[in-house]
Amino acid sequence: MEFYTDKVVWITGASSGIGAELAIQLSKQQAALILSARNQEALQEIQRHCLQYTTRCTVLPADLTDAAHLDGLVQQALQTYGHIDILINNAGITQRAFAEDTSPEVDRRIMEINFFSPVNLTKLLLPHFRARKTGQVAVLSSMAGLMGFPQRTAYAAAKHALKGYFETLQVEHSIPGFYATIVSPGRIQTPISLNALTASGKPHNKMDAGQQNGIPVTVCAQKILRAIARQQHHIVIARSERILWWFHKWCPPLYYRIARKAGLKEG
Ligand SMILES: NC(=O)c1ccc[n+]([C@@H]2O[C@H](COP(=O)([O-])OP(=O)(O)OC[C@H]3O[C@@H](n4cnc5c(N)ncnc54)[C@H](OP(=O)(O)O)[C@@H]3O)[C@@H](O)[C@H]2O)c1
Repeated sequence: MEFYTDKVVWITGASSGIGAELAIQLSKQQAALILSARNQEALQEIQRHCLQYTTRCTVLPADLTDAAHLDGLVQQALQTYGHIDILINNAGITQRAFAEDTSPEVDRRIMEINFFSPVNLTKLLLPHFRARKTGQVAVLSSMAGLMGFPQRTAYAAAKHALKGYFETLQVEHSIPGFYATIVSPGRIQTPISLNALTASGKPHNKMDAGQQNGIPVTVCAQKILRAIARQQHHIVIARSERILWWFHKWCPPLYYRIARKAGLKEG
């Protein structure tokens, strides 16, 4: 029996990329899964895949930026299998536009999905975790949650905010048996750059070279699941971004020079 066997895991952003891969790996450990995202058809395809390995996998489609309906959504998720052991706040959307060109509406959309929806979902589940004296939450931040990167102002802001929020939740440690894991990936091979928002809010629709040559999504999902099972506070999953982060801390002038150049190349 493995750590996730029979655990009820709710994954947001399970229709694509990291979330879809987490679902598949968890199904192979016979977890009971609840899969959320907006695209119902894509979720059902992942569900079909997961049901080859686990007997319990339910699709709960939702736009997580729809704050008025989150309470009802959480109640539905809780009723699905009677409780929730782990919430993986993975849904998110990135950005490809310079600050001066980005409309305030786009800034707000990026903040809503990347920051407010995971915070709201987590808060709605905390009373459940308190009552059960157990519960875990993981949240997908980013290396852009540890340092700035060109054309990602709102995205980096949202991911920094997430890091700050969940780190504070960890330090408060006010709910016995509750653990939170912050995940900071660098570039992972997923369609995230296709779905990235441009200045006007339209999808970027390009697979960036950095993304294409990123860490395989299977490796990323394995590392995330291991970190959650170990109740790790924070995990960095990155290659060259790790070096940039080191410069950010220990040699800031070099960080500024390299990050600016990388951004110019990308733009
Ligand atoms: N890939 C990377 O290089 C990388 C690096 C650092 C951090 N991350 C983080 O990892 C997470 C997953 O990214 P990914 O690479 O797997 O990207 P992805 O393939 O584009 O997947 C994003 C997921 O979020 C869902 N989503 C977006 N807006 C939503 C909304 N309003 N309501 C509900 N679901 C929504 C999407 O589903 P629908 O479109 O069906 O709603 C999709 O399932 C994100 O938080 C991202 O910021 C990724």
